[in-house]
Amino acid sequence: VTVATDIVEEILALKKERNAVILAHNYQVGEIQDLADYVGDSLGLSYHAAETDAELIVFCGVHFMGETAKIVNPTKTVVIPDMEAGCSLSDSCPADKLDAFLQEHREKNYYVIAYINCSAGVKALADVIVTSGNALKIVESAPKDRNILFVPDQNLGAWVMEKTGRKMDLWQGNCYVHVEFTRDSINKIRAEYPGAEVVAHPECTYAVRMLADEVCSTEKMLSYCRDSKADSFIIVTESGMLHRLRREVPGKTFIPGPTELCACNDCRYMKLNTLEKLRDCLDYRSPEIIIPEDIRVKAERSVRRMLELSC
Ligand code: 13P
Ligand code: SF4
Repeated sequence: VTVATDIVEEILALKKERNAVILAHNYQVGEIQDLADYVGDSLGLSYHAAETDAELIVFCGVHFMGETAKIVNPTKTVVIPDMEAGCSLSDSCPADKLDAFLQEHREKNYYVIAYINCSAGVKALADVIVTSGNALKIVESAPKDRNILFVPDQNLGAWVMEKTGRKMDLWQGNCYVHVEFTRDSINKIRAEYPGAEVVAHPECTYAVRMLADEVCSTEKMLSYCRDSKADSFIIVTESGMLHRLRREVPGKTFIPGPTELCACNDCRYMKLNTLEKLRDCLDYRSPEIIIPEDIRVKAERSVRRMLELSC
């Protein structure tokens, strides 16, 4: 406990010294969430990154999140605790493959909508970015006379199509964490807790989404559980979300949605970040996110379009 307190104090002192802001995604470990200046979903984090006046942005999340912060803050230093913190979903749509696909299907004149879980290179090829928190609104406002290509998440894309009725061609990518939840694993836990509501992230498969009382972004899970009459919830997303819910919605019970293999689900990339790595990246201002300027400028257009459309 003493060690933990020491390192927390060290981080807070370094943060002040470096004029830094610490942003953390809802999937970060509890210790990181507890000392961050802001904890939220990809949408809230993007707004915070765009509005901060700190000199150094420390992004406790995964690589594409740090990149998004850098895209809108070219003159600031953006660091992440671990450069290896990638994302299977982002990796499922490399920019060169998307570029080749668009060249091959030029006749479609695609309007490209990219879920924020993608690289700066993919953002540079997109017309607009969406997050799970604003995808429905942004897809609804997409030009009616264009074919839409939605990348990279086929499950989130399918959910958006169901909800908006808008036809889209879907890139066949997915999040390795969310596809681990299955109809059987959720049915089993539901039988154990018959009074609990099932709240699932839209990156889950159709079979799992069909079992959910609510499908929403991680941030909306908070307001949903707070406002619902139910007092227990099965949370079908990455395990870090449980910490945030238990902290901010006291008095209610949160049960992690299990997979076939284990009682809950960790994202191995999100969980690479530790307090020690957070302290070191503040101290050394490294590892730093660097994006070639031509790509950054193009990516900024689609990110800014999202920020304008979703407020
Ligand atoms: P949100 O927190 O924006 O819902 O996204 C979840 C996610 O998978 C981030 O990697
Ligand atoms: Fe990527 Fe899935 Fe991890 Fe989110 S939970 S960072 S989508 S691998």
